[in-house]
Amino acid sequence: MDLKDILAPLDVELKKVSMLGGSLAVVVVPASHAELAMKAKRETDTALKCGDYLVVGLFGMGADEASTRFLSIPKGIAVYPADAGDIQTLFFEAAKRLNMNTLSAPWVKDVWESIKQTNVQDADREDRFLKGSFYQFDAFVADHPQDMGRMLSFMAPADRRWVEDVLPIGVVSFMEAQSESEDTGQEGGPAGASLIEQWDFKSRFETKVEQARATLRKFRSIEHLFTLPSISHEVIEAASDPMTAAPRMARIIEKDPVLTSRVLKVVNSAFYGFRRQIVSVEHAVVILGNDEVVNLAFSIAVHQIMDRVSPSHGAELWEHSLMVAHLSQWFGGVLGSKASRELYTIGLLHDFGKIVFLQKGYRVPGFAEMSTVHRLAAEEMSMGISHAEMGAYVAERWNLPEEIVDTLLTHHQPGRAKDMMLSASVHLADAVAHRGAIPRDEVNSAVARLLEGADGSRIGDEVVSKRYDYTLKRVKTLLDIDG
Ligand SMILES: [Fe+2]
Ligand SMILES: [Fe+2]
Repeated sequence: MDLKDILAPLDVELKKVSMLGGSLAVVVVPASHAELAMKAKRETDTALKCGDYLVVGLFGMGADEASTRFLSIPKGIAVYPADAGDIQTLFFEAAKRLNMNTLSAPWVKDVWESIKQTNVQDADREDRFLKGSFYQFDAFVADHPQDMGRMLSFMAPADRRWVEDVLPIGVVSFMEAQSESEDTGQEGGPAGASLIEQWDFKSRFETKVEQARATLRKFRSIEHLFTLPSISHEVIEAASDPMTAAPRMARIIEKDPVLTSRVLKVVNSAFYGFRRQIVSVEHAVVILGNDEVVNLAFSIAVHQIMDRVSPSHGAELWEHSLMVAHLSQWFGGVLGSKASRELYTIGLLHDFGKIVFLQKGYRVPGFAEMSTVHRLAAEEMSMGISHAEMGAYVAERWNLPEEIVDTLLTHHQPGRAKDMMLSASVHLADAVAHRGAIPRDEVNSAVARLLEGADGSRIGDEVVSKRYDYTLKRVKTLLDIDG
């Protein structure tokens, strides 16, 4: 029996219910208890047997009432309209509450399994770096757009989002075209399901998590190589107090001769383009403002670490990081984010995980290239996590604010970010830093949706390309004086 055969009659009920402003409970019961359930069912209710379970649609029932009637039966209940707006979501919700493992439809089980496994944002502190993403699976889905496209047509919009949010828009559009153009009949779901089963999602995921755990353990033994100098903590802390005046900030910076000379060099560089020579740190702070000084102090500290770990790769990554920091601030402003300083920090650190991997002797494939879902999968196959998780983990060890940690974690999957605006800004900045323009087919589909809704004239190709040239020029002048 196809899922559609269960959902269609329930859908009729749902429409009736919504017209009358009532409620609908969907109850999923194991087939072994079908007899008991049928006794509890009223004449007006819909009941359908499907493999190992029975699905009952209870018209005009609230959850409590439904629960009482089915009290002695193991069941999962979802109630409209409190729980969800469409019948498929209701059905999945009820099935999930029952515990999907008792259900037989393999593709339903597998899909839910993967959604559950890869959505652990609020899990314990370390779990989010271990289990929050599974790029190997994303790459697998991207490699089978036809089968997965057909599978998508069986999913509720909320579930489709799960797939869409992790893939480039080019792949998602192709999948959608597949699911619309082909007969999405009975083979559609199970075909994708058997593929997933053959691929062995569960054991691969377990292996990945174990590997990731080992990587984080190894990192903790070399963590001292990546600690931020205490001066940058002091600067950041002082700047977080809006009452901190320029003289106090200057005193903090002057404690560190390297930071002092860098600040003066940078302020007097063509990057800022002041006509008069600025000789005191205090003057520099007055002119630049606290935010800019924090950016500087922080970027100098990060650069020192990159340089120490790998001078050749460090320089390359440094230039890219500066580009992304500046472009992130710009995109953030265009998209309406107020978190300009955070965006700079995130841009600087977004690929920091790659430097950590280098330290362990691991050669990141295509180090300086744009991270496609396949490259992320390759990193993950080698380390159990990608540079995104690694960088976020370091940021958390540095006690950076949660929005920074979360954005680093999701900069290749903005659809999963707590603050999508931040993550989307960095994602776009990263893409533009690599391509000189927004690669419309390659950006993550969640970001593509956001762009669609945004004012096109402000982020049109010409505007973006001008911004890219301008930023590149500024970053180059900054790099000239650096060293
Ligand atoms: Fe990245
Ligand atoms: Fe990047």
